[in-house]
Formats: sequence, structure tokens, C-alpha cells
Amino acid sequence: MAQILDGKRVRDAILAESVPRVKRVMDRGRPPGLAVVLVGNDPGSEIYVRNKVKACADLGIYSEKLTPAEAITTDELVALIDGLNRRPEIDGILVQMPLPKPVDSRRVLLAIDPDKDVDGFHPMNVGNLVANRPAPRACTPAGIMELLERYQIPVTGRNAVVVGRSDIVGKPMALMLLHHSATVTICHSKTRDLAAVCAGADILVAAMGRPALVKAEYIRPGATVIDVGMNRISDRAQAEAIFGRLPERLAVFERTGSLLVGDVDPVAMAERAGAYTPVPGGVGPLTIAMLMKNAIDAAERHLGVR
Ligand code: GUN
Repeated sequence: MAQILDGKRVRDAILAESVPRVKRVMDRGRPPGLAVVLVGNDPGSEIYVRNKVKACADLGIYSEKLTPAEAITTDELVALIDGLNRRPEIDGILVQMPLPKPVDSRRVLLAIDPDKDVDGFHPMNVGNLVANRPAPRACTPAGIMELLERYQIPVTGRNAVVVGRSDIVGKPMALMLLHHSATVTICHSKTRDLAAVCAGADILVAAMGRPALVKAEYIRPGATVIDVGMNRISDRAQAEAIFGRLPERLAVFERTGSLLVGDVDPVAMAERAGAYTPVPGGVGPLTIAMLMKNAIDAAERHLGVR
């Protein structure tokens, strides 16, 4: 039987460790402060941001949600971020991605004070990651490293294959695994014979945003499989093709008209992997826990807590 890597359990442990840290910051006269900027009305992003704001409230972190209209210009957004950079009670600034097409995301990320960059997306912090220097790290891959560590899954010397080369997950994930001395391969849409490359992985991270693309033949029996995918499907034939052998999940489809599916075929993953993160309940919960950790780290730096 494959071991299920329970992201909610790891999240709860990280949040529990955060409670006394928030208290120590509070003893310096104010709570950690996080500003979350959500541009426009993308329903997926709205759910993410709501969960981030709620996680702050639960921990006693001050949060502020800013919701400029979809039509905001790059200059206006940069000015808004500059205002947040100048406010001492704001320790962290998060701009929810993706931004509307006309906005120059690179200029926006560059405008965030690198010391308030709780996502690790500022080019200076990307450079710090490349150089393996201490700095805020991207939340989702950092959460995956926490998960591997807490479940004592060995990384050193293992073959790690990362499928997907995004700035948010794939690239930082590959670098973090490399810094833990894995032998790392990055795959993407142009990779030849993806199945064969994946089948060489001791640790397989699927982060390309394609529902259930990773099938049984991609998974070496006994491998650790980390499924970063969060795809909502509402097509019945697709739901039946993926979840045909999981009646309890199909029942959710019948009830709600849609299903959350990762980038890995859930049946193949449970049958072939040695350990794996389920969707939902695997990687998802870790991202927000690491965001809270990054926000508290920033507050500790700003207030000189050590
Ligand atoms: N969009 C998807 N994931 C993330 C994330 O970790 N941070 C931000 N800011 N936007 C995202």
C-alpha cells in the first residue's frame, strides 16, 4: 500500500509552530502585517486570496486585502505597491498571480521591496534561491520540501524529475531539490518521450497544469509522486475516464457538477507510487502555511526578533 503524504497534517504542524512566533512578534508591539493584492475578479484567485486572508486571521496576523479593478495600469499598480513598501506595519506584500494580460507582471514584481516579498518572486530573491542564500522562498515548492523532510523521504542522490517549468513552481522546485543534492531533470511541453524520463524518477513532481496527464507508465513502482495540479473539470466523459474506478469521487461530480483533479492519474498514482500527495489534501494546504511562515519571517526581521 502506498503511503499518503498528508498535506493537511503538515500544514497543521507548520501553523502550530507559527503560533508562539506570532506571539513573540506581538510582544514587540504589533502583529505581523500582510498586504494581499488581488487585481480583477478571477474566481479561482478570489478563492485563494480568501483562504490566505482567513489563514492570517486564524493566526492573529494583520492582513489587508486590496482589490484594484481589472483595468488598473502597470503604473498605477506600481504606485500602489510603492505605498505598501513605505508602510512600516506591512511586513509582507503578495500580488496574486496571474495578473491581467495588459499589466506588465515583471515590472510589478520588481516593484515589491525584496524584503517584503513573501512569495520569493522578486528577481533578487530568485537570484538568492539560485545562489542558495537565505531569502524568502516560493511557497508551493518550499512547502513540498517541508513535506519531504517531515516524512523523511530521502532526496540526496535521488533522481528527481520536475514536470513543468513555471516561475511559481517548476523552476524554484528544481533548484530546491538540486540544493538538497538530488539529480534533477526538468521536463516541459517540448520534452521528448516524457513517460520514459518520468519513469526514471525516484521523486516525481507534476506541475504542468494538465489534468491526469501523468499515467501509470510514467511512474516507477515505489516512486514518491508529488502532484501539484489543481484542475477543475466539469466534462462528464473526462470525469468518468479519470475517476471511473473511484465511485465516491464520481458521486461528488454528480452532486456538484465538477471535480478537482491533479496532474497525475489518481488511480495509477495510488497503485504504483510508494508515497504520494493526494488531490485535494496534498500540496494545496502547504502553500498557505508557507506564506504564513514567510510573513512571520519578514516581521521577525523587521522587528529584530530572533
Ligand atoms: N498564483 C498561484 N500560486 C501563487 C502563489 O503562490 N503566489 C501568488 N502571488 N500567486 C499565485
